[in-house]
Amino acid sequence: MIGKDIQLAARYLKADKLVAIPTETVYGLAGNALHEEAVSKIYTVKNRPVFNPLILHLGSREAAESYVRKIPELAQTLAKHFWPGPLTLILEKANHVPDIVTAGSSFVGLRVPNHPLTLELLKNLEFPLAAPSANPSGYISPTSPKHVQDQLGAQIAYILDGGPCQIGVESTIVKVVGEEFLILRKGGIPIEEIESLIGPVKLHTHNTENPDAPGMLKSHYAPSVPFVVGNLNQLVIEYQTKSIGIIAFRNPLAGIPEERQIVLSKTGNLEEAARNLYKGMRYLDTLNVEIILAELLPEFGLGRAINDRLMRAAA
Ligand code: TXA
Ligand code: MG
Repeated sequence: MIGKDIQLAARYLKADKLVAIPTETVYGLAGNALHEEAVSKIYTVKNRPVFNPLILHLGSREAAESYVRKIPELAQTLAKHFWPGPLTLILEKANHVPDIVTAGSSFVGLRVPNHPLTLELLKNLEFPLAAPSANPSGYISPTSPKHVQDQLGAQIAYILDGGPCQIGVESTIVKVVGEEFLILRKGGIPIEEIESLIGPVKLHTHNTENPDAPGMLKSHYAPSVPFVVGNLNQLVIEYQTKSIGIIAFRNPLAGIPEERQIVLSKTGNLEEAARNLYKGMRYLDTLNVEIILAELLPEFGLGRAINDRLMRAAA
């Protein structure tokens, strides 16, 4: 069921049921983070590997303090500046945060999402919400209630309708280890903005055998058809025998039907491009094309998060 009833959403969550929640980045699949029963449902519904931890969503910066050992000063600076907003901080967890949320790690991810409905919902709850993106594991994140409904609707109690997501790519993840700040995922807050506040950070977004952000395995955010990133003019020649879908930054390609092309932002605006990215990928995935071709965006600001997702979709 889809609706805007915060009280109903709260009742379901208090009964350990799952509710999809709107955030500024993508929709989340939420459950009571302090109840193992609710959290284990999240893993089941998403078909998510149990080694991949979940982010805690909180209603305020003050609420964050009870779920971590401490918030170092520069992390406080980031929280003060960016919460509510698309920043996830990974800090040493407090003992009472269940292991199932952190997949056994002694670190926990926290964020205060910037969406009025979800902030209001969190105020009505006495517990934080564990919430990964509300998509089947490995697929494209949802940026509208309908995206959630299409894939997970039958398995969750309620979808809280907060409209289309305003940012459209996931939060930037920053892990704090001692004095070091590691970027585990490029996202809705550009790295440049983080560095302008706290100085240089380390990029740590690559996949390894034992990844620090297990959700950042190389192949991710992927549509169900083959996906190739490169120079569009060259790629359309290379794949001319196939039916092609296109993701272009500013301009559609001549010679390909417009209804099979997604232009992310005609004016070259990276924020607009981020908002259109996942919707566009999902749309092309419904067309039954044989291959999707995409070009990279300028590598700064939100362009870095968009490029990261395009590369992962292609991996
Ligand atoms: O914007 C977002 O962050 C969205 C909305 C719903 O808040 N959530 C989201 O969650 O993208 P998810 O689960 O799809 O991605 C979270 C990422 C995963 O790659 C996970 O491995 C990593 O965060 N993560 C979560 N907790 C972690 C921890 N304790 N240590 C390391 N990585 C962690
Ligand atoms: Mg996800």
